[in-house]
Amino acid sequence: MTLHITCSGQACGAEVSGVDLGMALAAEDVLRIRAAWLQHHVLAFPQQTMSNGDLLRFTRYFGGFGDDPFIASIPGQEHIIAVERRANEQAPLFAENWHTDWSFQAVPPAGTCLFSITVPPQGGDTLFANQHKALTEMPAALREKLEGKIAIHSAKAAYSPEGMYGQEDQATDRSMVIRPSAEALATQRHPLIRLHPETGELGVFGCLGYIVGIEGMDDHAAFALLLELLEWQTQPEFVYQHRWQPDMLIMWDNRSLLHKATGGYEAYDRLLHRTTIAQ
Ligand code: SIN
Repeated sequence: MTLHITCSGQACGAEVSGVDLGMALAAEDVLRIRAAWLQHHVLAFPQQTMSNGDLLRFTRYFGGFGDDPFIASIPGQEHIIAVERRANEQAPLFAENWHTDWSFQAVPPAGTCLFSITVPPQGGDTLFANQHKALTEMPAALREKLEGKIAIHSAKAAYSPEGMYGQEDQATDRSMVIRPSAEALATQRHPLIRLHPETGELGVFGCLGYIVGIEGMDDHAAFALLLELLEWQTQPEFVYQHRWQPDMLIMWDNRSLLHKATGGYEAYDRLLHRTTIAQ
């Protein structure tokens, strides 16, 4: 089989064919996939027949398993989370706000793999925003305001008992098993503009949501700047819109991207299995 990589033609993303992820990969194919991942930031592998074991093996080619806090793993599979929504579920959509996975950790994960099992016939696309492009094309006046700034990240708005997925959410009909905790109140600091640890490319890291403040700025001023930044960094020209098919694996680079889920599939089930690649 020969590996083919086809660019999405959007702000990032490429499709990979000519590889069977249900089998062990040759070392040279892993190297090519890693190079394509670093170049395109999101890779989609359509028409893959993959068991949970295949998903775990694929993930391990790219690093250790990341630590997934606040979400229960699926039974018997410590490193797999189900991103799941039943038809007619009323709970607010999961992950509908822009974010980069677990940016509130001291060492946030390098990447995420997501394998589609049940895909609705409409809606449910995943959006990705290229944060190298967002920085390169940023107006000088905005960039000046961000240079040298250290962002304060926290999971509190999402996973603390008072957060979006906190105590109130536990009373909804959510099919995903989320475990809010006071541990979500912890904070970590990361530069707002930073070098990608593998490619050395500069980019914006994270966004308002998991970023809850900026060192040395009062909350009001920090919020205004983060909101201005969010509007810039998620503009359509920086976005790749991923349309799912069943049996499709995607992997993305959290160090280069923001992402978000979208709805529009009420009355249909959606189920994907997710693993996290540690930095
Ligand atoms: C996620 O952020 O992992 C979920 C993305 C999606 O459901 O499309």
